[in-house]
Amino acid sequence: MTRINQLVKFNIKPEHYEGVKAALIEDKKEEDNMNPTIETMMQRRTIRRYTDQPVTNETMEKLYNVIEGTQSWGNTQCWEIVDVQDKKLRKQLQATLPPKNPSYKAIADAPRLLAVCARKGRSGYIEDKIVNKHGDWYMYDLGLMTQNLCLAAHSLGLGTVVVGWYDLEEAERILNCPDGVEVVTLIPMGYRAQKGHVPTHRPVADFVHTNTF
Ligand SMILES: Cc1cc2nc3c(=O)[nH]c(=O)nc-3n(C[C@H](O)[C@H](O)[C@H](O)COP(=O)(O)O)c2cc1C
Repeated sequence: MTRINQLVKFNIKPEHYEGVKAALIEDKKEEDNMNPTIETMMQRRTIRRYTDQPVTNETMEKLYNVIEGTQSWGNTQCWEIVDVQDKKLRKQLQATLPPKNPSYKAIADAPRLLAVCARKGRSGYIEDKIVNKHGDWYMYDLGLMTQNLCLAAHSLGLGTVVVGWYDLEEAERILNCPDGVEVVTLIPMGYRAQKGHVPTHRPVADFVHTNTF
């Protein structure tokens, strides 16, 4: 049953109209774009609470294979992943987040925690030289890789949150990153214990321009 049909079953009050409108827009998008890949993309949400069910090594292998196949600048594949299992290290990493960060708890408590790192000086370089004004493209490639990871995780029933608000230098020290490797995000992961909140999105007409701005 679509969300809107579920809502119609209830006595919708004017103060709920905005929510109903948002649900209608979401349902329309889903109906228009129905195929398993797009459905996964539309339905993935940030998840910060997880069940106790462990995420097995077999499941992690599937996700790592998805990372392995991700596109990157000149196929440079600058990503490095640390699967942080040690509880003490998890606590230390948690302390690198401001307690106000909504993912503070998840860093220590999630069944899995991945630290997504980049090897600098590869993406965007040809023969050790940067070839355009964007410089090192590691953030771009890690973004592509991370989205693949989060979508694949969602398709397997897992929830993820990308965490970028923490003390990066301190996290690098804790993880013993070698020279030239930077921590970019921390990703808690586990089986979903919440549905996730659909945030407001900029409408298509607001960001698509034809020919010129
Ligand atoms: C690069 C990046 C950094 C983020 N950092 C944090 C963070 O530090 N803490 C947190 O709770 N959520 C963080 N998020 C999650 C966003 O708040 C979330 O993706 C956004 O609200 C949209 O929700 P959605 O993922 O359900 O579409 C981050 C997301 C991205 C992509």
